[in-house]
Amino acid sequence: MKNQLSYVFFFSRLMQNVILMKKDVINMHKERFIELYKTHIHREGSDKLLDFLLSKSSDFFDAPASTRFHGNYDGGLVEHSLNVYDCLVDYLSRERVKDTYKLNYTDESIAIVALLHDICKVNCYKKGTRNVKEDGVWKQVPTYEYNDTLPYGHGEKSVYMISGYMRLTREEAFAIRYHMGFAGSEEARNVGAAFEMFPLAFALSTADMEATYFLEEKR
Ligand SMILES: [Fe+2]
Ligand SMILES: [Fe+2]
Repeated sequence: MKNQLSYVFFFSRLMQNVILMKKDVINMHKERFIELYKTHIHREGSDKLLDFLLSKSSDFFDAPASTRFHGNYDGGLVEHSLNVYDCLVDYLSRERVKDTYKLNYTDESIAIVALLHDICKVNCYKKGTRNVKEDGVWKQVPTYEYNDTLPYGHGEKSVYMISGYMRLTREEAFAIRYHMGFAGSEEARNVGAAFEMFPLAFALSTADMEATYFLEEKR
């Protein structure tokens, strides 16, 4: 009996630590996001947008990045936004990109398009459960359900939401609008034209895919 009790105690402490670790990681990402945002983004209205993201009306810092794919866990969206930022900064620092392609963007533009490209996902994922069969036994597991209460699209919705607070340059708007590249539901002709006219769109789309497929996991 004593052994059983100490096992239960040990297990509950372990679970508490796992939950604390998850919260620590989410808080770490949240702090880094705020730090990058405040350091690089100074455009008029940007402070109000950050206030919104931090407010109770937004779940940006807790939301997943998807229901079943990469980043499908609490805090997945902020983690993904930071990963895209790191991938974009790295892509744009390459010699070939700077010297041959002549891409050169301000720290503010880079931070805006990377950190905010997926804010269309704010308040879109609701926690629920689903039934899965494990070893012939049905059990309920936690999951996310997608419920977009402002179905304005994807990249275009992020542009729409940001524009409510601050002005985007045309290149920033195109980059965010077409960040899904050819993987989205866009007319392929428009994606190609956007990449050609606005190279930041290609760079952001590449960073988005690198982050998704090389850095992020499914749970
Ligand atoms: Fe996206
Ligand atoms: Fe993304």
